[in-house]
Amino acid sequence: MPRSIQSGQRDSPGYYVYMAAAISALGGLLFGYDTGVISGAILFVREEFQLGSTLQEVVVSSVLWGAVLGAATGGLLADRLGRRMLLLITGILFALGAIGTAIAPTVAWLIALRVVVGVAIGAASFSAPLYVSEIAPARHRGWLVSLNQLAITSGIVVSYLVDFALSGIGAWRWMFGLAAIPAVGLATGMLFLPESPRWLMEHVLVDQARRILQRTRGTSDVEEELEDIRASLAQSSGSWSQLVGPLVRPALVVGLGLAVFQQITGINTVIYYAPTIFQLAGFTSASVAILATAGVGVVNVLMTVVSMYLIDRVGRRPLLLVGMAGMVFSLGILGVAFWLPGLSDVVGWVAIGSLALYVASFAIGLGPVFWLLIAEIYPLPVRGRAMSLATIVNWGFNLLVALTFLTLIEVLGRPGTFWLYGGLGIGAWFFVFWLVPETKGRTLEQIEAYWRDRLPRER
Ligand code: BGC
Repeated sequence: MPRSIQSGQRDSPGYYVYMAAAISALGGLLFGYDTGVISGAILFVREEFQLGSTLQEVVVSSVLWGAVLGAATGGLLADRLGRRMLLLITGILFALGAIGTAIAPTVAWLIALRVVVGVAIGAASFSAPLYVSEIAPARHRGWLVSLNQLAITSGIVVSYLVDFALSGIGAWRWMFGLAAIPAVGLATGMLFLPESPRWLMEHVLVDQARRILQRTRGTSDVEEELEDIRASLAQSSGSWSQLVGPLVRPALVVGLGLAVFQQITGINTVIYYAPTIFQLAGFTSASVAILATAGVGVVNVLMTVVSMYLIDRVGRRPLLLVGMAGMVFSLGILGVAFWLPGLSDVVGWVAIGSLALYVASFAIGLGPVFWLLIAEIYPLPVRGRAMSLATIVNWGFNLLVALTFLTLIEVLGRPGTFWLYGGLGIGAWFFVFWLVPETKGRTLEQIEAYWRDRLPRER
């Protein structure tokens, strides 16, 4: 395996790195908030604009369509304009979207502005981890990048609470509009943060890159890290065709595979439909269903913290493998609970228990580790585009699962649907076991060298 960590690198992240991770995590907070907020807001939007079920579905899914679009356009922008500039633009879009949806006079306006919010979510979902991964020292990269996932899960819980607090007065416009606060924080914060030193090197802005590395590493001795980045740039051209070339292809397969598995194992059926699942399990009272949903959200946040504690200590692979196993097990139990006849009280409790275990297992593994790995495994010249591709696929499958869940319940029944997600989870486990490399403690350039070492030697 590649060399150990460079000597010039200071061990603790330092002020600039903490600020970069904290401010870009506002992108994650908005990702979570804006995807979660619709669950409560839709009840009032439906009334206000007298929507039938088709239009309701369009309102709910518009953010996901936008996210696919944002992920698609963001990749090129991250490579051309820089990671910092893209995050700044995203902050502005989030703010415009928040205010625009809050004042929407018609449903068409609302849908259009929810697409704008979605574009911002799609772009932020990969550019925040990308930016932090390129600025953080190797030994702390795992938890610093995963701060973004903590922000996503916190954003989801905050949105539930805001929905809950404002539903008494039906203030759906405020539910959307409040997102403008973190959005302005993201845009103004990015004004004061430095660009990623790796992106600067790629654009031959060596002096600036050196200055920023010195500031973020807290040492003037950064020549070795600069040299590693330079060497990695010399190896590859950064063209689109390189994405499918022999060097990048294995990493591309890992990123795309994880993107698909993160979604087709069903996490967002729980995030978007938890109250429905609890009602299916026999908890007919809306308030119990909402309370249980908030509980699921809190489990998601807490287990993400546990994952952040472990990620740079035990590594990415063990967390993925243990998390996947937990997801498969809990989906199996959930299926059995729905399959057994005449156990309605027990079914309800088993459903709550296994959903909690399922979300906990996702939060410890596939949730944070997917976003972290796609920020780590690609060579610098194609990193933005490769990440954006994995992100497009992730949002595309998110949409697919959201649009098919209720139909699957009708066609396969409840046990069949959860067993299907569990079966796909078994596939995910083997995929991780065979193909996903350990990246703990390595610099991004060392990870790149790992893929290069595996290339078949030319004779
Ligand atoms: C996923 C989202 C999901 C969230 C839940 C993220 O990592 O990409 O689709 O809603 O985790 O915590």
